[in-house]
Amino acid sequence: MGSGLWDTHVHLDDERFAGDRKEVLAEIGREMAGVINPGCDGASSAFAVELAEKYPWVYAAVGWHPENLTELPKDYLAKEAAWAEHPKVVAIGEVGLDYYWPDNAPREVQKKVFKEQMDLAAQLHLPLIIHDREAHGDMLELFRKDAPRGLEAVFHCFSGSVEMAAELAKKGCYFGFGGTSTYKNARKVREVMLSLPKELLLLETDSPYLAPVPYRGKRNKPLYTKLTAQNMALLLGVSYEEVVAFTEENTLRLFRKIKQPLS
Ligand code: NI
Repeated sequence: MGSGLWDTHVHLDDERFAGDRKEVLAEIGREMAGVINPGCDGASSAFAVELAEKYPWVYAAVGWHPENLTELPKDYLAKEAAWAEHPKVVAIGEVGLDYYWPDNAPREVQKKVFKEQMDLAAQLHLPLIIHDREAHGDMLELFRKDAPRGLEAVFHCFSGSVEMAAELAKKGCYFGFGGTSTYKNARKVREVMLSLPKELLLLETDSPYLAPVPYRGKRNKPLYTKLTAQNMALLLGVSYEEVVAFTEENTLRLFRKIKQPLS
């Protein structure tokens, strides 16, 4: 496997990888340490586990995304718990709140399902991969009131304020940075990055979405993590190698199942 570069958030099941999925997967194996592929519903979670079984450098997370709750199976928590027994399922996710799309399930449903998956993650001693879009107030309230003891989590593609990040960081949350941190108009994202201790920073792409500059608008892919890492190095005033080293350390600390021997 390649350098210590980790993409902690990629959707390789997306149809935009249909044409070259094998090549993209081979490239990860050659150039990177690995990727974490979260699921967003039953089919994509199953696909993530399958990919993880096939490729040594792919790890999976399983969960129901707030955009996919209208057909939530009754036994979804049992399904997630069963998948989580797999040695390469390293987290519960992608889960969270999304108030952006008007067609999403009602807010009360989203909060209930998120809370249930939060509890499951804590029970299973697995970290939670969180999506929070236009729902910062309710997300913070959930963390204040309902976060179970010992919950570990990463806010992927975090878009909240410096103050919100500080409060979540105190609770031990990590923060994933991807393409948006390279966009000219994303000053707030960079301010958040600079405000956090480097022990809480992770790299991600959210491929196929949110490609970093200079590929903004094109299909994203895991190797572009490199561009976000280079940008992070510039912003923090450290070397690229340092960024790769501390983000790898952080990835392996949070997703600790990665280092457990496969049985
Ligand atoms: Ni995602």
